[in-house]
Amino acid sequence: MRNMKKQMKIVLQMVSGYGGEFKTWRLPKAKEDVYTDMDFYVEMAQLAEKGKLHALFMADTPALVNDLTHDTPMHSMDPLIAMTSVARATKHIGLVGTFSTTFNEPYNLARHLKALDVISHGRVGWNAVTTSTPATAANFGTQLKSTQERYGRAHEMIEAVQGLWGSWEKGAYIHDKQAGQFADMSQIKPLNYQGDYIQTKGPLPIPPSEQGQPPIFQAGPSPEGIRLAGRFASGVYANPFTIEEAREYRNILRESAIAHGRSADDINVFTGFMFTIADSKEEALARRRAVLEFDKEELAHRLSYLGAMVGLNFQGIDPYQPLPDSWLKLARTNPHDPRSPHALEVLKEGYSPVDTLAHGVINYHPVVVGTAKDVADFLQEWFEAGATDGFSIVPDLAHDGVRAFVEQVVPILQERGLFHKDYEGSTLREHLGVPYQYGI
Ligand SMILES: Cc1cc2nc3c(=O)[nH]c(=O)nc-3n(C[C@H](O)[C@H](O)[C@H](O)COP(=O)(O)O)c2cc1C
Repeated sequence: MRNMKKQMKIVLQMVSGYGGEFKTWRLPKAKEDVYTDMDFYVEMAQLAEKGKLHALFMADTPALVNDLTHDTPMHSMDPLIAMTSVARATKHIGLVGTFSTTFNEPYNLARHLKALDVISHGRVGWNAVTTSTPATAANFGTQLKSTQERYGRAHEMIEAVQGLWGSWEKGAYIHDKQAGQFADMSQIKPLNYQGDYIQTKGPLPIPPSEQGQPPIFQAGPSPEGIRLAGRFASGVYANPFTIEEAREYRNILRESAIAHGRSADDINVFTGFMFTIADSKEEALARRRAVLEFDKEELAHRLSYLGAMVGLNFQGIDPYQPLPDSWLKLARTNPHDPRSPHALEVLKEGYSPVDTLAHGVINYHPVVVGTAKDVADFLQEWFEAGATDGFSIVPDLAHDGVRAFVEQVVPILQERGLFHKDYEGSTLREHLGVPYQYGI
């Protein structure tokens, strides 16, 4: 009998090419110029495809949002160009890109994504985000609008883009030489979308891809974000820090899908997860310690942040020594920071403040620093607890992290029956197990 056990889905975040830690580019193994090297993106994508990862995920903010003096960028040069480069050099892996609903017009976005979906034979997904960075607004000569306006536009934007996608009907692409008919114009009709924020006429002259059109992803946990996801999303990129928080968020998203007349299983939650893999935990910690030492000033900031997180002042202590028991007794967790219980736990295990930071306790996603088995155990625990449908994985450094995940973690997950051994089909929708869709 076929094993019908539910399996986790995994997407790989490319970040800017280097990885989720912005100083790992200085590690001896790292290649310095991958930001501008599309061959490297292609190599990583092909490796991820070998590991049967469901998709590559490109976050994006159209603005410079971090200081590049010492750190690598937060995002690729341009997600559309990176996805296009990768599309031509891969066959199975999905390609999910982040594109703003606020700072795009529906016609150009619908056109770019559908053309890419067609040339990749149905492997594209759109992470539709409202964008809340003032620097982006400034790049478009404007200021950030209210949440209500941003989300009002987001609903219309997705409707209009999907409407444009469907404006070339499925049977319209005749291309019959004998009959001399290229297309059936009675099946290519204007959309005439007239919303409060969006107006577009159409049609968009592009036929459907093998999956019809790209599925929608969403990121942003506000009530408005949850409504948007419930209405449209097949995938949600989430950033919970504990299993309890994750399970609650996933349930809210599932309820939102049902409230919008969809099935709860139509939404796949991808929890952000970061890792450093080595042959032993000590080796993995040493690598992260080395990265922390690249920037003493930032290390000092991080130490003071960690101290505040557990209610202690680290000024004047030796941060390379474990804290004395008398100090640990005074420490307390911060109810407003879900990462603080884990941080305190690591300090109480006897790790010094610097080693505690090396565990990734103040990173923007949960982190495992250890062996491939440690990583697999973590993913299994969260998945089996119903906390998530899958993971959006972020290696500290892509250069060796992607290979370590594909060659060491994936086989353990497959052995445990938690991860597929091959793609279920050829399109991203098939990989995600979400229905075919064409038009609104
Ligand atoms: C895990 C996660 C990833 C996100 N990635 C992006 C991104 O790549 N680009 C972007 O503009 N916004 C991104 N966002 C921001 C959201 O789109 C949203 O603007 C932000 O969370 C503010 O919440 P709200 O707009 O729902 O109020 C992300 C949010 C989350 C939670």
